[in-house]
Amino acid sequence: MIAAGALRRRAHSNSTSRGSPSIEIAKGLRVSIDFNLSISRRRFVLAAAGVAAATVARPASSMASAVDERRIRVAPGQARFTGSSGPLTPVWAYDGTVPGPMLRLRQGEPARIIVENGLDEETTVHWHGIRLQNAMDGVPGLTQPPIKPGTSFVYEFTPPDAGTFWYHPHANSLVQLGRGLAGALIVEEAEPIAVDRDLLWLLQDWRLAADAQMAPGFGSAMDAAMSGRIGNIVTINGTVPIDQRVIAGERIRLRLANASLARIMALRFEGHRPVVVAIDGQPCDPHELEDGRVVLAPAMRIDVVIDMQGDPGKRYAVIDDYYDGLAYKLTTLAYDTASPLRTRPLDAPLGLPRNPLPEPDLAEAERQEIVLQGGMMGGGKLAGVGGMMGMATPGMNGGAAWAINGMSMTGDGHAGMAPRFTLKRGTTCHLTMRNETAWWHPMHIHGFSMSVLSRNGSPVPNRTWQDTVLLAPKDTIECAFVADNPGDWMLHCHVADHQMAGLMTVFRVT
Ligand code: C2O
Ligand code: CU
Ligand code: CU
Repeated sequence: MIAAGALRRRAHSNSTSRGSPSIEIAKGLRVSIDFNLSISRRRFVLAAAGVAAATVARPASSMASAVDERRIRVAPGQARFTGSSGPLTPVWAYDGTVPGPMLRLRQGEPARIIVENGLDEETTVHWHGIRLQNAMDGVPGLTQPPIKPGTSFVYEFTPPDAGTFWYHPHANSLVQLGRGLAGALIVEEAEPIAVDRDLLWLLQDWRLAADAQMAPGFGSAMDAAMSGRIGNIVTINGTVPIDQRVIAGERIRLRLANASLARIMALRFEGHRPVVVAIDGQPCDPHELEDGRVVLAPAMRIDVVIDMQGDPGKRYAVIDDYYDGLAYKLTTLAYDTASPLRTRPLDAPLGLPRNPLPEPDLAEAERQEIVLQGGMMGGGKLAGVGGMMGMATPGMNGGAAWAINGMSMTGDGHAGMAPRFTLKRGTTCHLTMRNETAWWHPMHIHGFSMSVLSRNGSPVPNRTWQDTVLLAPKDTIECAFVADNPGDWMLHCHVADHQMAGLMTVFRVT
């Protein structure tokens, strides 16, 4: 486990592809290499090297009017996080794999996903970041009845936005997500940008005991009131990463998704300059990062485009150095010895087509403020929440350790969650989130994507829209969104322990 001091310090200023042939989208330029069907030299090299990244293949065809129907079974299973010869870890899994199957849907086309519950407890599936009908949002007691053991639930929605999303339970989330229930959901653009490969890294952090079993103690009071359950191994697409084989000169779209319970990551690609093209599924103005670090809080997704400008045969580390003094090498970009695919970077635009998000009208906006309170301060005292809800042992046994505007809504979705504020359909909400605590919180809004206006008074550049916004200790963030989607929606911290211990609220759009 990691010492609280190291965690509290501010860290910085502030599968295989399925069988469809790849598609040539420009002369000599293919997306989604299929390892099995055609063996050009480059594909052969990659296939032979056993690439750990999942390739985002495009489906061969789709009937415009047919509903895309899938079935997913939730059940106990086993995973080998350390590779095929490693020990087995009992997990809970979607369709037997951790992470669950990568779902690929098409923007604006209806999907039906039938979820069967093979667990001994209730579950739901939340389609994180998808702006869908409230009844499909997957919050037990609030938007749907929980899926009882042995029963199923049919989710039907039409994703309005293309981008990188994910899915996970919203019942007993800390344990269910923590035991492995998470998967990527990619909604494809009608016209993707030109890249040589489109890859996904679904990042997960696990706290394993020496015998490779999940360490017990989910929901400990210490995790709850401090950083959350941070683990001791990080996996990419379900395994401890091996080398990522790349070819000099190729352009890769890398979809990064942090499905960890609590670990925040800051990835540095040694010798490379990733260009951010989308955040939380929403395209932004393509930009390089000042310090080159891609910061991913739990639940966040960032799509970067990287031109592989390293030298053939060389190796470059990918480092996560978010927490002071706790940097580690996540993986290595290992260059094939083949001569570069091209001599200069591909000359093709990086801007993704924008999604149909309603533009906030700030002049007419309704202002709301969310203040984050509580958590452990120096000296082992719990700040802010004491006495608010009259709990005796904060953070213990499902008790509160955190609050929003003086109110602690604990546990997961349940019946009778009263909305904190109500917005009339169509109004713009200008939302200020103020972090009074000594900890970081990735605050997540259901059902909407928010235009991020400012951080501590400074405008946020690059036309950024997010569903999960990381607040550093004492940060104030201003955002805006149009309340165009009726229903009761959650707003909570995505550090699962924090949500369970009170950092959660609900608002209503009528
Ligand atoms: Cu990832 Cu309440 O959500
Ligand atoms: Cu969500
Ligand atoms: Cu939090």
